[in-house]
Amino acid sequence: MKTRQLIMLAGLFLILGCKKAPEQLPVVDPLAFGGELDGKKVELFTLKNEQGMVVQITNFGGRVVDLWVPDREGRFTDVVLGYSTLDGYLNSNEIYYGTLVGRYGNRIGNARFTLNDSVYTLAANDGINHLHGGVKGYNDVVWDAVQSDEKTVLLSYLSPDGEEGYPGNLQVNVTYELTPDNELKIEYRATTDKPTPVNLTHHSYFNLKGAGEGDINDHVLYINAPFYTPVDGGLIPTGEIAPVDGTPFDFRTPMAIGARVNDDNEQLKYGQGYDHNWVLTTPSGPGLTLAARVVEPSTGRTMEVFTNEPAIQFYGGNFLNGKDTGKNGKVYNHRGALCLETQHFPDSPNHLEFPSVILEPGQEYYSICIYKFGVE
Ligand code: GLA
Repeated sequence: MKTRQLIMLAGLFLILGCKKAPEQLPVVDPLAFGGELDGKKVELFTLKNEQGMVVQITNFGGRVVDLWVPDREGRFTDVVLGYSTLDGYLNSNEIYYGTLVGRYGNRIGNARFTLNDSVYTLAANDGINHLHGGVKGYNDVVWDAVQSDEKTVLLSYLSPDGEEGYPGNLQVNVTYELTPDNELKIEYRATTDKPTPVNLTHHSYFNLKGAGEGDINDHVLYINAPFYTPVDGGLIPTGEIAPVDGTPFDFRTPMAIGARVNDDNEQLKYGQGYDHNWVLTTPSGPGLTLAARVVEPSTGRTMEVFTNEPAIQFYGGNFLNGKDTGKNGKVYNHRGALCLETQHFPDSPNHLEFPSVILEPGQEYYSICIYKFGVE
């Protein structure tokens, strides 16, 4: 081989070497992560796609532990808050980093509801209210897990009759899939042997600059919703379905999250910022709704959220307070991340005017949420 060809070849290797292959990303070490909890093995599963995206998921709470997404220069960063060890999660101040949430995502007022003339009392874990499935929600249990291929992990959990006060044995199956189009696709299925409310969701805390890299006030947000459900001081919907027109809740034109978050607005005071349920414009035919889109201007990263659910909770990380130090020693400060939780409306079991959340025996619950990453 001539010297010139050799130099060119060396150059090519150098260029290829600079573009980090997924296996070179400093992902969490699955061997260092695990442990045993409730007599079950806690594991960490690594999913990859052909574009270099990597997501790691643990069967403890069905959590997304890290999620590596490219910016407009092709540089990969981990965009979700979390820990590199099981102990990190067990000792955390915030308990919902990256979790699956159930049996009922969001709040149920007075931790109580009536169904078919029976009153059900749930665990009260948010003042007098019930939040995210109770004291030991699906975020806190060890799921059965099988990684079926490089891109897919299947999680299942049998939630027993009476758990946290809910009626019926609920068999829950969740699939996490990383698609070739840089989507993290989450599909939820459930069946029951007694009528029960079900509202499953996912609670990743995203910061598209990177986990622990400042706040999300400069992320630009679009929400495809002309209405939202105002709340009382305990964040329970009043029952009103209010137009977003002329309020800080109108994100139909993309807007920096921080632009209006400190406005003098009663609803923002109740949530200490954004922590509300938006009522989506759903397509008239089949197909999913583009519920929300987030753009991070400095890195160009974008995230779109698609769902078949009628609503989405946008929570702006108002209760993050710098008490948690996560992966790579990064501190998770106030509004350091955002959650976009596809869902039915909060407190639906107590609002018959809201879309029903009751699953009957013989029916199958199906919900889908896609977080699609891109750049602009
Ligand atoms: C949800 C709620 C918030 C908060 C977080 C967890 O998104 O709406 O009020 O409880 O979970 O901290």
